[in-house]
Amino acid sequence: MGKIINSKIGNVWQYPVGTDRTVKHPAKFPLKLATDHILSWSNPGDTVLDPFLGSGTTGVAAANTRRRFIGIEMDPDYFAIAQARIQKAQADAITNRMREATR
Ligand SMILES: C[S@@+](CC[C@H](N)C(=O)[O-])C[C@H]1O[C@@H](n2cnc3c(N)ncnc32)[C@H](O)[C@@H]1O
Repeated sequence: MGKIINSKIGNVWQYPVGTDRTVKHPAKFPLKLATDHILSWSNPGDTVLDPFLGSGTTGVAAANTRRRFIGIEMDPDYFAIAQARIQKAQADAITNRMREATR
């Protein structure tokens, strides 16, 4: 049987959780977790689907990485939080691209 000689080599990604108190959802993902998955498994212009949207972290990551996005959430309060976060991320992304284009 193989022996692990360097515990830093592997395919388990680790993130600090529960550090963001600004979003009112009990199980918000770290933004970096959603971002790393989107970058790994899709290309710019692809559509990302999150059927358990929660506070919208996946949608924010999609906006930041130039992906289209569809989110589904059954709780109207969480949906409103997600919508506000994603709309702000999309507006910020457009502003940033315009700044880059005019440099
Ligand atoms: C673990 S949370 C997702 C957290 C999200 N990744 C974030 O960063 O905020 C799962 C969400 O799925 C929603 N949910 C559970 N069952 C659902 C269903 N059948 N259809 C739509 N949303 C559902 C819950 O209301 C909850 O907000």
